[in-house]
Amino acid sequence: MKYLVTGGAGFIGSNLTNMLVKKGHEVVVIDDLSMGKVENLNDLGKVEFIKGSITNKELMKSILTKYQFDYVFHLAAVASVADSVERPVETHEVNYNAVLNILDLIRKHQRNLKRFVFASSAAVYGDDPELPKKETSSIKPMTQYAVDKFAAERTAINFNNLYNVPASAVRFFNVYGPNQNPESPYSGVISILLDRYTRNLKGENIVFTLFGDGSQVRDFIFIEDVLHALLLVSESEISLGQVFNVGTENETDLNQVIMELNEIYGFDLPITYEAARVGDIHRSVADISSLKSLGFMPENTVFQGLSKLVEFLGR
Ligand code: NAD
Ligand code: UD1
Repeated sequence: MKYLVTGGAGFIGSNLTNMLVKKGHEVVVIDDLSMGKVENLNDLGKVEFIKGSITNKELMKSILTKYQFDYVFHLAAVASVADSVERPVETHEVNYNAVLNILDLIRKHQRNLKRFVFASSAAVYGDDPELPKKETSSIKPMTQYAVDKFAAERTAINFNNLYNVPASAVRFFNVYGPNQNPESPYSGVISILLDRYTRNLKGENIVFTLFGDGSQVRDFIFIEDVLHALLLVSESEISLGQVFNVGTENETDLNQVIMELNEIYGFDLPITYEAARVGDIHRSVADISSLKSLGFMPENTVFQGLSKLVEFLGR
């Protein structure tokens, strides 16, 4: 099969690409390397890597007219909620306008497509007290990131309904695993935490900044489980035109994550506290009944996932 993975040098995209290549599929990756790294791709010889922005209309047209894809996974985005609060206009260009353009190009030029899978987010639910979040829960996007994710997700589903572009969307909760870039202040919290632990182990005296008091709750899901969910959603017939939460149904607060990591590493990470970030969601956990109906069952607890990740990174 032929796949296009946008954002394929990033965290989720590179893990997906590496798995697809291992299964013998052909993969084209487009990534501007703003957060991704070419080194995340295990077998570059077997991937057609294109460095460029999804906002470049000419480039996207050339890719979507040159190849006929069986599957498109759209993962490229400004992936940080906090970054979108700093840069709402740039976020909108990447996280919405580029998606609309890609869907329109697919509508006009892709004849063989079996599925377009859009990476949406749990952020669309906002901070509404109704928990766990079901796909039918109220949508209260609190940031440009969340507004754009919801709008792009709806656009993908509307292209399915109006133009027969086969599309599904996944609302990822908080994903962690190898290849998550810890270098930006806006990186995912687990990647930043692990970076701080390893640097302390190497003798650097570096403190982790916790925004808030650590009581914020997330549904953390390990990348292996996410890849399983992505395959199920992309290959199932009943997922066509549907949206799926991708989480574990387990709540973990940041203090618990840090406690588990202290246990795994065998020392207490030095922490400094700052005010909670504006636009931050306090509590988020998924109901995954819909995903389970496709045959999904998460296999890793947070402790198991974190242990595998620490093993992978080496101490
Ligand atoms: P990531 O930042 O590692 O991956 C995104 C990739 O897109 C990066 O490699 C980046 O360089 C690339 N990119 C950014 N702007 C681009 C542009 N204009 N043109 C081309 N490439 C561009 O983030 P991730 O965690 O792998 O997230 C993947 C997708 O999943 C994103 O859409 C994100 O919003 C969504 N998501 C992630 C999580 C999570 O917990 N990681 C949760 C919900 C949704
Ligand atoms: C994350 C994803 C986002 C996704 C959302 C879905 C990233 C960068 N963000 O956002 O793409 O749509 O899940 O639920 O992958 N924190 C600290 N110190 C730090 C960094 C973060 O205390 O150095 C705190 C944050 O303030 C927040 C929590 O940790 O309360 C989680 O932050 P983050 O990893 O950025 O995740 P989300 O904002 O939930």
